[in-house]
Amino acid sequence: MTRPASRAFLLAFLLFCIPGLFGQNQTSPRRHLSLDRDWRFALGNATDSKKDFGFDDGQLFFYGKAGHGNGPADPHFDDRTWRPVDVPHDWAVTLPFDSRGDSNHGSKAIGRNFPENSVGWYRKSFTVPPGNEGNRIRIDFDGVYRNSQVWLNGFYIGTEPSGYASFGYDVTDYINFDQPNTLVVRADATTDEGWFYEGAGIYRHVWLDITAPAHVAHDGTYVITTLNSGFTAAHVNAQITVVNDSLTPGQYSVTNVIEDPAGKQVAEVLDTKLAVQAGSSEVASADLPVAHPSLWSTETPVLYKLVTTIRQAGKVVDTCETRFGIRQVEWTADHGFFLNGKHVEIKGTNDHQDAAGVGIALPDDLQTYRIERLKALGSNAIRTSHHPPTPALLDAADRLGMLILDEARMMGTTPEDLGQLTRQIEHDRNHPSVILWSLGNEEWALEWSVYGARLARDLTAYAKRLDPSRRSTVAMSGSSAGISLGVDVMGFNYYLQHHIDDMHRRFPNRPIVGTEESSSEHTRGMYFDDPEHQHLVGFDFEADGKHASIEDGWRYYQDRPYAAGLFYWTGFDYRGETTPFDYPAISSQFGLLDTCGFMKDTAYLAQSFWTDGATHPMVHLATTWTIPNRAQHGAPDENVPVLVYSNAAAVELLLNGKSLGRKPMPRNSHFEWQVPYSPGTLSAVGYNAAGAVMAHDVESTTSAPARLHLVATKNQLAADGTSLSIVTVTVEDAQNRIVPDASNLVSFELSGPGKIIGVGNGDPSSHQPDQYLPNYTAIPVINWHTKAVDFLEPAAETSPTDDAPTWPLAQDPRWDEKPSPPAASVFRGEFTLPSTSSTAAITLFLHRFGEDEAVFLNGHALKLSVDEANGEAKIAGIPLDPAILVAGRNVLTLYARRFTAGDAKIKDWTWSRGGPANLSVVTPAGRWQRSVFNGLAQIIVQSSTTAGTLTLTATSPNLRPATVEVKILSSWVRSRD
Ligand code: GAL
Repeated sequence: MTRPASRAFLLAFLLFCIPGLFGQNQTSPRRHLSLDRDWRFALGNATDSKKDFGFDDGQLFFYGKAGHGNGPADPHFDDRTWRPVDVPHDWAVTLPFDSRGDSNHGSKAIGRNFPENSVGWYRKSFTVPPGNEGNRIRIDFDGVYRNSQVWLNGFYIGTEPSGYASFGYDVTDYINFDQPNTLVVRADATTDEGWFYEGAGIYRHVWLDITAPAHVAHDGTYVITTLNSGFTAAHVNAQITVVNDSLTPGQYSVTNVIEDPAGKQVAEVLDTKLAVQAGSSEVASADLPVAHPSLWSTETPVLYKLVTTIRQAGKVVDTCETRFGIRQVEWTADHGFFLNGKHVEIKGTNDHQDAAGVGIALPDDLQTYRIERLKALGSNAIRTSHHPPTPALLDAADRLGMLILDEARMMGTTPEDLGQLTRQIEHDRNHPSVILWSLGNEEWALEWSVYGARLARDLTAYAKRLDPSRRSTVAMSGSSAGISLGVDVMGFNYYLQHHIDDMHRRFPNRPIVGTEESSSEHTRGMYFDDPEHQHLVGFDFEADGKHASIEDGWRYYQDRPYAAGLFYWTGFDYRGETTPFDYPAISSQFGLLDTCGFMKDTAYLAQSFWTDGATHPMVHLATTWTIPNRAQHGAPDENVPVLVYSNAAAVELLLNGKSLGRKPMPRNSHFEWQVPYSPGTLSAVGYNAAGAVMAHDVESTTSAPARLHLVATKNQLAADGTSLSIVTVTVEDAQNRIVPDASNLVSFELSGPGKIIGVGNGDPSSHQPDQYLPNYTAIPVINWHTKAVDFLEPAAETSPTDDAPTWPLAQDPRWDEKPSPPAASVFRGEFTLPSTSSTAAITLFLHRFGEDEAVFLNGHALKLSVDEANGEAKIAGIPLDPAILVAGRNVLTLYARRFTAGDAKIKDWTWSRGGPANLSVVTPAGRWQRSVFNGLAQIIVQSSTTAGTLTLTATSPNLRPATVEVKILSSWVRSRD
C-alpha cells in the first residue's frame, strides 16, 4: 500500500525534477501537420453556376455575409459522390488530349474552350488535436494552380490568384476545436499564367500549423552565414521575428542554439529579451560563431539546424527549427561564380515542374529522383523557370547539393507582385542551395524601356531588403540598356540574341550568367527525323541563327571566363511548347532528358563536358546499330554517321571486334566517324592520357523483342504512403539487349500494399493516358414531388408508376412549416441511368430527411443505416443491387415523419447542399499499360502505410513477362538525408 508521504514525494518529484511535464519547461505546442490525405475532388464548371454545384448562384452567399459559403463551400454539402484523392494532385494530367486545347499547354482539354474541365473543387474534413484551444491555427498551401478560393467551415478565407506562390491563412477564429472542420478549395485553371503545361489543382502540399499565441512568425527566421577569409570560422546571424497574437503585451526570452549534422550543439545565444505589444511583432537578433564549420557545397551538402526557443515567464511557448547551410556565395564580373572561395562553373538546366505520369503533382521522391538524374550528368544548378519552386524541391536541392536560381513569376512592383515576391524570398532565403534570385524572364514589354530600368532597380533593392545576402538577376532576351541598368547580375537568354562581350565592356562590374542556352529539340533514341510522328533526330545540331547547339552554347561560355556558366533550356522535356510541331505533338523536346528522366544522346554530350574523366569516365556512341532504324535511313551498307561523346583522352572505335582506329578526343566537343554499316557490334573504348582503358560503350544489332525486364530505383520503401520506387521497363531481345526501336504495348499489374501513380515513356507525341483511375460519375435525383401523409401506404405511394407528378413540387423539406407542418411526408424523385454496366458500383447517398425514414427504389425497399461520420448524421451510402435498377428512368420514393422540433438536422437537406439524394457510379480503372518508346517506359510505384511486399508484373503479347519486388517496411524510417 502506498503511504501518503511517498505520494507527496512522487508529486514533488514530478513537479520539480521533470519540469517538462508541469510548469517551467512546458513543451512548445508547435505542430506542422500534413493535410495531404483524404480529400474529395470533383470538377465544377467555369461558366455555369448550376453545373458548378450552385456556387455563386446569385443568392446571398459568401461575399455578402460571413459564414455563408454555399454550394460545396457549405460545410453540410454532401460530397460522398466525389472522387477520393490525396494531394499533390493534378487533375489536368488525367484529361484527354484535344486539338482545341492550347498546344503550348500540352493540348489538354482544359482552358477557355472547356469550362466543364477547368474548375476543380476539393473538400476535406480534419480535426485539430485536442488541447489546442487558445493556440493559433494556420492553414498553409505550398501552391495551388490557380486562382484558388478557400473556405473553412463555411467562412470565406481568401483568394490567391498565383498558381505558384505559397500562401497561408490564420484561421484560428473559424476553427472547430472539438469537432471536425471542413476545408474547401475551388481552383480555376481557365486562364493561364505561363506558356507551358501548368496542370491544375492542389498540386503541392497542404499543412496545418499550430503555435502558441506568442510564436516565431511564419517564415519568421532568417539565417545569414558569413565566413572568414580562411573559411575556418563562420559567423551565423539569426533574426527571429516573434509575433504576439495574444490580447496583452508580452515579455519574452529568445534562445538560439545551432546543432551540427550529428545533433551536437555548436553554438548558443541564451536569453535575448524582447517586449512585444499585443497584435504586433518584434525581431530578436542573435550572433552565433561556429568554429571549423563543415561547409555546404554541391559535393558536401552539410546542413545545420537552428533551434529557436521562446519563453514567457520561464515557460517554453514555442520551439522552432530551421535548417540552413554554412557557405559563401560570390558572383564576380571577371571570373564568374565562387562557392566557398572555389571557382564553380555553372553547369545548369532550366526546368519546369512537370514529370511523366503525374503532371505537376510531384511527390517529394520525384524531386529527389530528378535532381539525382541531373547530378548524374554532372549538372550542378537548376533555374526554376519561370516561377517560385515548391519547398520540396528546395529541400531536396539542399540535401543533395544542387544550386538553385530561384525565379519569380511576375516582374512587377504592384502590391500583388510584391506580396508574392515577399513570400517567395521569406520562404526560400534560408536554403543554402539558393544562390541567386531571378526577378523576371524575357519581359518583352520592359526589357528595352525606362520601365524595365525602374522595375529592375526597385525590385533589386526590394529583394535586398528582404535578403541582403543574395544578389538578383533578370533573364533577358536581348541586350539592352533597360533592365540591365537595374540588376546585380546580367542574365542572358541565348547568346546568339545578344552582344555579350559588348555588354561586359559596357557594364564591367556586372557579373554575367547564361540564364537560357541552346533550346534545341531532340527525341530520345532517334537517328533520323520522322516528322510524321513528330520525332526529331537525337544528334546535337548546328545553330539556327537564334539558338545555338548544345556544344556551341557550352563552348561559348567556356571561352569567356568572365561569365559564370549557363543553364541549358532544358534539363527535362515537359508537356506543351511542342516546337517545331503542332498538335498531335503534346510535349516539348528541349530536354537533355525526356519527361521520364531517360537520357537522350544530348545528355551524354553534356555529361562529357560536365564530368571529369578521372572520377566519372564515360564514352557514348550516339547512333543505333539495329537494322530497322537504319533501313528507314538509307541502304544498309551506306556510311553511317557515328557521333562519339566522351571525357576520355582518346577513343577507339571497333566494328565486330576490328579496330577502326583511335582518335584523340577533343575536349568540350565530339567527333564524328563515318562507319560503313554491317550488322553486329560497334564498340567505343575510351582511354586516359596514359593509354589505359577507362570506359566503353556498345551498340549491337539486336534481334526481335523477346522479353521484358524491370528495374526499380528502390527495392525497399518506407510504409509512409508517399515513398516512390521508379521502375523502368525495357523490351529486350533473346540476348538481353534493349531493342532500341521497340514499341511494344506493356500491361502492368501491382499486388501488395501500394499503388501505381503514373506511367510514361518520353514519347513527345504519345496520347496514351498517364494514369488509369476508376471513373466517378455523380447522378443527381431530380424532379422531386411531395405530399403530406399521415402514414405510409406502401402499395400506393412507393409504386414507380403512380400519380406522383400530380403531387406538388417539392421544395426544401419544411418540417417547420406554419401553421400546421405535416406529421409525415412522401417525396418522389427520379434519375436516369444511361446503361447499367455490370462492372460499375452504384451507390445511393441520402441526407437524413426526417425520422423513421423509409426508401424505395423502383418499388423495392432499401435497407438504411445512419452514418455519423464528420459529426453529421447522414444515411450511410446504400450500394444498389443492379437487379433492381433499369436503364433509363428509375424512381426513388422517400418517406419520413417530421423531425422532432428543434432538431438541427432539419437544416441538413437543402438543394444547395447537393439535394436530398445523389448516386455515384464508379467504374473500375482500366488495366495500367504503356507502350515502350524506343525500348523504354516508366512506372511510378508508391508505398501505402501498410508493410508487406509489392510485386509489379509486366506482360506483353509474345514477350516473356517480368516481375520486380519492392518491400514496404514499417520499421524503416525514411531519412531526411
Ligand atoms: C525562351 C523562353 C522559355 C521557352 C524557350 C523555348 O525564350 O524563356 O520559356 O519558351 O524560349 O525556346
